[in-house]
Amino acid sequence: MDSSEVNPNPEHGVRHLAIIMDGNGRWAEARRLGRTFGHRQGARRVEDIVVACCDQGITHLTLYAFSTENWNRPWAEVQLLMRLLVQQLRSIDKKLVKNRVSLVCQGSLERLPAFVRLELARVERMTSFAEPKLTLCLSLSYGGRQELVDAARKIAQSVRAGTLDPEQISEAVFAASLYRPEFPDPDLLIRTGGEYRVSNFLLWQMAYSEIFVTETLWPDFDRNELADALAEFSRRERRFGKTSAQVRSAEASV
Ligand code: FPP
Repeated sequence: MDSSEVNPNPEHGVRHLAIIMDGNGRWAEARRLGRTFGHRQGARRVEDIVVACCDQGITHLTLYAFSTENWNRPWAEVQLLMRLLVQQLRSIDKKLVKNRVSLVCQGSLERLPAFVRLELARVERMTSFAEPKLTLCLSLSYGGRQELVDAARKIAQSVRAGTLDPEQISEAVFAASLYRPEFPDPDLLIRTGGEYRVSNFLLWQMAYSEIFVTETLWPDFDRNELADALAEFSRRERRFGKTSAQVRSAEASV
């Protein structure tokens, strides 16, 4: 297979990977450095992991880069994260193009400073491929509850406009009203930094995602550990509410 082709059936079976990149602060504190260093190192990790995901045949990657709750951090840290995001986008834009990675974003983007929105728009334009190898979604100023509220508002507007009957509201209609309806639900969520929570990330989409938590802090997370997580995923049995026997007999009949 040509390296630019998308592998439609990677062995591990993960099409959409979501990552909560946690532990930048602790990584820096363990080295008696300011949190800034941790975020800088964390931002650099993003490039390697995006390329590793391409190599692994993953088609959708969603990164939790800045949550709605992160606005409550000290203002200096918020500003640093915004500047780092822009610097990182400037340094990886050509690599995204080279690897045929399309960048998209989701969240309350109107809250981001104008210089961040301009940079995101530039890289989105530059990377808008008709057939990307990987689509990278940055969740910025993102909150899962806010996404559900926004979806409910969109649906209510359609009802008010008379284009949707309340009886027609279904899971499919709701899913189509989310920020990125074109993304499949994540098969796997990786959380670095060792905490066992979803932190308001992809609340609707995560209903049946497998969860992999690693103690490794985000600045140390590398392609080997990504490969371990994918291998662990491929050993799990996804039952979607069915029994193990049902799943095995369905697999045997394929
Ligand atoms: C969590 O670590 C990390 C963040 C809040 C920021 C994540 C952002 C990046 C890695 C940069 C993003 C850049 C691009 C291009 C996507 P923490 O500060 O909560 O760590 P702690 O739990 O150890 O304090």
